[in-house]
Amino acid sequence: MDNLFLPRLARIALVRDETPDTKTFGLRFRDPVDQRDFRFLPGQFLELSVFGFGEAPFCFASSPTRPELVEVTVRRTGQLTDALHTLGPGDEVGLRGPCGNGFDLPSAQGKDLLFIGGGIGLPPLRGLIWNVLDERERFGRVTIMYGAKTPADLVYKDELQEWAARGDVELLVTVDRSNNGWTGNVGMVPTLFDKTELRPKTTLSYVCGPPVMIKFVVQDLLMRGFADDAIISTLERMMQCGVGKCNHCAIGHRYVCRDGPVFTFRQIKELVE
Ligand SMILES: Cc1cc2nc3c(=O)[nH]c(=O)nc-3n(C[C@H](O)[C@H](O)[C@H](O)COP(=O)(O)OP(=O)(O)OC[C@H]3O[C@@H](n4cnc5c(N)ncnc54)[C@H](O)[C@@H]3O)c2cc1C
Ligand code: FES
Repeated sequence: MDNLFLPRLARIALVRDETPDTKTFGLRFRDPVDQRDFRFLPGQFLELSVFGFGEAPFCFASSPTRPELVEVTVRRTGQLTDALHTLGPGDEVGLRGPCGNGFDLPSAQGKDLLFIGGGIGLPPLRGLIWNVLDERERFGRVTIMYGAKTPADLVYKDELQEWAARGDVELLVTVDRSNNGWTGNVGMVPTLFDKTELRPKTTLSYVCGPPVMIKFVVQDLLMRGFADDAIISTLERMMQCGVGKCNHCAIGHRYVCRDGPVFTFRQIKELVE
């Protein structure tokens, strides 16, 4: 499937409620050949069309090691996402992609990995995390830090429990505000740094979340000795074509849709300069 301009029909195979405004959709191409030939990397995204409402970019929330379903996790923010949230199993959407560069997993081989997600920033990391866990022997220590506003805003609640129960992953979860029944950490994501021991020289960190969280987390990582190249994040920009043709997502001479959305902190600094 190499025509990035042509949407293919896909059926919704499952819908899972994550939070009051966020759902995960499992998608399968209608044509089994499209399904068989579809290849993507964690960190890439697809353009999803909801018929009558247009097209929008969503990152892959699933791992290429589990190709039977393509999953996206979508927060309701406007017309298209509202319409998508009304759809259910058997309904059809269009898929175009994969777009963008994706995470460079081969160069992470042998390294310790630190995943830091905030709110709806966990979905792009989830595909990468499952890819790493499905090939666990290729990587060193795996630490996952995740924070949300309240316990109800945590996505993938079952999987968080599954990761916590594994002996080969360290999972640290926090919420900004607790309510009845929450016995875990309370505080912003950077408060989790003091709850673990990191090895900055041998660790790659992957950071996705709201810009304010990324700002403070990156400051902390730098202070703790992480190099600019060891801090990897994704940028979000308003997009239309998703393939470097329309100029909507340009920052300087780069297109976030084509050259990103995954960038190292060194690259982000160069872009901003
Ligand atoms: C590469 C990429 C990956 C993305 N992955 C996901 C994902 O996995 N899950 C998810 O829920 N969302 C994701 N988004 C954001 C998603 O594309 C927008 O939420 C969606 O386009 C909103 O469409 P809408 O018609 O429902 O809302 P609109 O009516 O278009 O917009 C509603 C509100 O959302 C804002 N908005 C719209 N698009 C964006 C954007 N690209 N960045 C920031 N704010 C925006 C608008 O300014 C407005 O305030 C991603 C965006 C990009 C660029
Ligand atoms: S969205 Fe068109 S150039 Fe990036």
